Amino acid sequence: HRLVVLISGSGTNLQALIDARDAGTLPVDIRLVLSNRADAAGLDRARAAGIDTAVLSHRDFDSREAFDTAMLERIDAAGADTLVLAGFMRILSSLFVRHYAGRLVNIHPSLLPRYPGLNTHQRALDAGDTEHGCSIHFVTDELDGGPVIAQASVPVLANDSAETLSNRVQTAEHQLYPLVIAWRAADRLALTEQGVELDGQVL
Ligand code: GRF
Repeated sequence: HRLVVLISGSGTNLQALIDARDAGTLPVDIRLVLSNRADAAGLDRARAAGIDTAVLSHRDFDSREAFDTAMLERIDAAGADTLVLAGFMRILSSLFVRHYAGRLVNIHPSLLPRYPGLNTHQRALDAGDTEHGCSIHFVTDELDGGPVIAQASVPVLANDSAETLSNRVQTAEHQLYPLVIAWRAADRLALTEQGVELDGQVL
């Protein structure tokens, strides 16, 4: 099963996928790690793991569509059965999203449909939530709105800051993402007209 991973930053979720691959629990070929930022620390993680990397800066393109088309060509040249967004901080055009329909997954640091968008940990704190977490979803045209595949929840503690809460959510992310991608690698997970199906059952 061929993966391409898109990042913009630290790449701790990428690292979790690499670690699972190396541990033998995630039988995938990570074909390419693509970043829109040359200084993304995740690129070093990929290089250290012997994975091909590419940088395409959105600043070098006149439009979102031109940038997305360049990414799409690079991704398809690498070959991707599943395209994994792991802290990729650009909004994708519908041209791109439709091309990868059913093959494109994202991890978002909230219990969707709560808190699409940014600053999710602070928003959960401000709302007085006692529970927070992360969601993995198929990507559709709606920002952070595609059908949810799996979620992990963590408690919000009385003295949490956005940072301590974020750390707890990230620990959950690093467990959940390799698990969900392993379902893909085993052909157990698909997006159909009925919705998200795991082992042929609609979730
Ligand atoms: C994660 O919290 C993920 O939920 C969000 O961006 C963050 C990426 O972190 N989409 P990392 O680059 O994987 O460390």
